[in-house]
Amino acid sequence: MRFEEIISEVPVCGMLAEVGCDHARLTELALRRGLCRSAVVSDISAACLEKARRTLSGYDCVRYIVCDGVPEGVEPDCLLVCGMGGHNVRDILSRYRGRATLVLSPQSHAELVREALPGMGYAIERDRCFEAAGKYYDVIRAVKTDNPAQPDGMQIKYGAYYKEKNPALRARLERLLGCLRGGGDANAARIAEITEVLSWQK
Ligand SMILES: C[S@@+](CC[C@H](N)C(=O)[O-])C[C@H]1O[C@@H](n2cnc3c(N)ncnc32)[C@H](O)[C@@H]1O
Repeated sequence: MRFEEIISEVPVCGMLAEVGCDHARLTELALRRGLCRSAVVSDISAACLEKARRTLSGYDCVRYIVCDGVPEGVEPDCLLVCGMGGHNVRDILSRYRGRATLVLSPQSHAELVREALPGMGYAIERDRCFEAAGKYYDVIRAVKTDNPAQPDGMQIKYGAYYKEKNPALRARLERLLGCLRGGGDANAARIAEITEVLSWQK
């Protein structure tokens, strides 16, 4: 399921922060797995943070903060930003000045996040597509580094490791290819790109 897939990318750490936590099910799973000793959960919405308080009521190592983006003065080892569109994830990260390992799962426009990470001093260490309940998602783990490599255009669009075999990526792109073929010549360039990615997935 989606929570399990995302949390499998969280390293064992001291403090985990989840920005845009809503119900905080991701943080709950990380705590339950013993991946972090403490957690900060934040959300721009006070009502969402109330949901988080209910989910995490059994834990006394959690701080709750209502704010836009990463809370000031919080220095986590790992920062989770998941379940928002790529524009929003990129905006939140552009205002972040820390060094935490990032675990990101943009709901859409993951390419905006991949493109922006090197400019923020982050290298993409893991990047994969997965399927949960019939939908496809991306999860990206990035680490602060001095000279992050800039992904090329294909890596930005299809994932930094699109040449590595991944049944979920293959299924996602085969489905997309079927839709694009119905659109005729207008989609020729995109079809050629996807065919190139799929050639690595056979
Ligand atoms: C769909 S929920 C995702 C919840 C959880 N992270 C997950 O992936 O299951 C997105 C949450 O992000 C919050 N959010 C959106 N923009 C935000 C921002 N700029 N700063 C903090 N929280 C934000 C919303 O209020 C909402 O609760």
